[in-house]
Amino acid sequence: MKAISFLLIISFLFSCRTSTESVSVKEVNVQNAAVVTAHPLATEIGLQVIKDGGNAVDAAIAIQFALAVCFPRAGNIAGGGFAIYRERDGTGYALDFREMAPKAASEDMYLDEEGNVVPDASTRGALAVGIPGTVHGMDQLFQRFSKLKDWNRLIQPAIDLAEKGFYLTEMQEDDLAEVQESIKKINKNETPFTVQRNRGEKFVQKKLAQVLRAIQQETRLGFYSGWVADEFVKTMENNGGVISHLDLLHYKSIWRAPAEFYYKNHRMLTMPLPSSAGVVLPQMFEMVSQYNLPGGGFHSPTAIHLVTEVERRVFADRAMHLGDPRFNRVPLFNLMHRDYLLDRMKDFSRDKATPSSEIREGVFTDRETMETTHFSVVDDEGNAIALTTTLNGAYGSHLVCEGGGYFLNNEMDDFSVKPGVPNLYGLVGGEANKIQSGKRMLSSMSPTIVDYPNKSLKMVLGSPGGSTILTSVFQVITNVIDFKMGMHEAVQAPRFHHQWLPDQIIMEQGGFDALTKKALEEKGHSIREVESIGRVEAILIEEDGTITGVADKRKDDHAAGF
Ligand code: GLY
Repeated sequence: MKAISFLLIISFLFSCRTSTESVSVKEVNVQNAAVVTAHPLATEIGLQVIKDGGNAVDAAIAIQFALAVCFPRAGNIAGGGFAIYRERDGTGYALDFREMAPKAASEDMYLDEEGNVVPDASTRGALAVGIPGTVHGMDQLFQRFSKLKDWNRLIQPAIDLAEKGFYLTEMQEDDLAEVQESIKKINKNETPFTVQRNRGEKFVQKKLAQVLRAIQQETRLGFYSGWVADEFVKTMENNGGVISHLDLLHYKSIWRAPAEFYYKNHRMLTMPLPSSAGVVLPQMFEMVSQYNLPGGGFHSPTAIHLVTEVERRVFADRAMHLGDPRFNRVPLFNLMHRDYLLDRMKDFSRDKATPSSEIREGVFTDRETMETTHFSVVDDEGNAIALTTTLNGAYGSHLVCEGGGYFLNNEMDDFSVKPGVPNLYGLVGGEANKIQSGKRMLSSMSPTIVDYPNKSLKMVLGSPGGSTILTSVFQVITNVIDFKMGMHEAVQAPRFHHQWLPDQIIMEQGGFDALTKKALEEKGHSIREVESIGRVEAILIEEDGTITGVADKRKDDHAAGF
């Protein structure tokens, strides 16, 4: 225990006081509380809130605002997200603070006169921005569940970070350098992300500090009205965007019933529509439960083949049927009926891949990129929150609010920009997810909480990664439940993914041996290797009560606890 705490402190100092090291702690084993986020500063801020008497929700609010400062790639105040909160007695809540299409949005807003998709229109610049939900969501979480009841206290660490500055990690320096040209191209004025600064110099965001102060003073109205809203709308108007003052004022986050289902007697709570998690995950778990998943062993061709064939089928359903339930009648009962799912696997062959063209004619909706960020918190009373938040692409639309100094999302790209026609990534979109004013775009974000069969808390997890979020979360859960791994092994294990179209398994390079890949190819699968899939932040409550927090090894992610 002591060794781990010492390691944590040393690593934290390296991460945050110098720009030349980005060491972060990947695992903690603690007795009281744990926090895992994408950035060491945000993790430590969240943990301090709990040490100061806050609960998991208080920590989550402080983390969300801190990430908006120290992790501008995906942390945000002008994005959206989902939270699954489980009180210590097991009651679950789901908060949807997903962005919405503005009033002026229309089905053909990204098409030219010939009806062709205008390149980049839904991904870069002002027209790509959905009405942000983050600040409304934090306000709702605070009002309903805060224990500290001190909004000022929760925002202050983010203000300090923005005002006094902090050191970017090495990975962040590289990352920001890569997008310089694009940010300069999209923004007419200088932005905090493009000012000349030397590598290793503190990164200061004065304008963002002022915006955070307005939010601190007036809660959500500090963002959706007043000078902050004026600056937002001015940025829209100056850059061809359509979000108005009324759009901002009318935004509402929504409390929903969490999607609840069981796998091998474990209750799972995840996000319902407009996240596809509440459909795709129960479908996948039900379909694999008809087979012996561990059969053949971890990452054996047999196990990978089974999961791939399940993924192929559920992603075809996702494309055909899923969208904002307020705008579409989604056949949830049928989609999750056991008989239907058994039927879906009728043509599954243990020996042969089923070509996606034979699975179902249809349309596919995934225009998501690999960005987003997730954090998991368990507090010292046993409350837990899994929260996934996003600007959509890395740095969202690359447009920075002119008087606010923060990135605006490009979440409109999560809609089907033109149903039935391949998008910029070669994918086609579905009717259920077409653009309509006031609608929420379909998501894959999957904040998820798992209970033991005895109903006590077992796991809290989630991931960034667009459509790979769903399969990353699925794999980490099955790694623990079916393959009996500890949380560290489960999170750091190589991952693979199939999403119906394109018809290929993507696999993390170096993670799968040649014989396994050959065996899969012999079954008819095509394989494409990628650098990494997902970035899972997870907490496992061990059977003896130890809380194991695990941060994904793939980037700067950091776990802490006490
Ligand atoms: N923008 C990623 C998602 O919502 O799934």
